[in-house]
Amino acid sequence: ADAAAPDAVAQLDWADLQARVAACTLCPELARSRNHTVFGTGDPGARWMFIGEAPGAEEDRRGEPFVGRAGQLLDRMLAALGMDRGQGVYIANILKCRPPNNRDPRPEEAHACRPYLDRQIALVRPRVLVALGRVAAQNLLDTAEPLGRLRGRILDYRGTPLVVTYHPAYLLRKPQDKRKAWDDLCLARRAVQ
Ligand code: URA
Repeated sequence: ADAAAPDAVAQLDWADLQARVAACTLCPELARSRNHTVFGTGDPGARWMFIGEAPGAEEDRRGEPFVGRAGQLLDRMLAALGMDRGQGVYIANILKCRPPNNRDPRPEEAHACRPYLDRQIALVRPRVLVALGRVAAQNLLDTAEPLGRLRGRILDYRGTPLVVTYHPAYLLRKPQDKRKAWDDLCLARRAVQ
């Protein structure tokens, strides 16, 4: 797939960006298999922006990010930070379409979709980005470093502080790592203040 004409996308306002994503066919397989694109949701003036991997089955059905079990855990993490989806945070994904059978995003798919995410970041202008999980982190940072070496530090994505932490779906399987995830969020909170 070609990239989503990055120069043109970088000029779009929220409404036109949303319409562009909803009509996107840059990745033919994803455009065929999806039920809904999942644009992103939250406070357009948010200080925090959480970035996941890609929609799952439930998100693809509803057109909303993080609405399955992992999303419920994410909502509890947000509540612990004093936020909810209406206030303080914007939530998006590396890919706006669900990969069939939740396979990993292909590099060319992530590349094609990136201008949409970059425009969302530019419109929100968050003080901190939080990458949820290995796929989001490795994509944003263009690295193959394992998550364990990326988390726990304040990194940078194109001038915005970036903190990497575990994906909530992983934390559902490994609740013993919730403590480290909370440490990561506290680190991100320092970047926000
Ligand atoms: N997992 C993700 O990474 N993103 C979603 O939107 C849902 C589950």
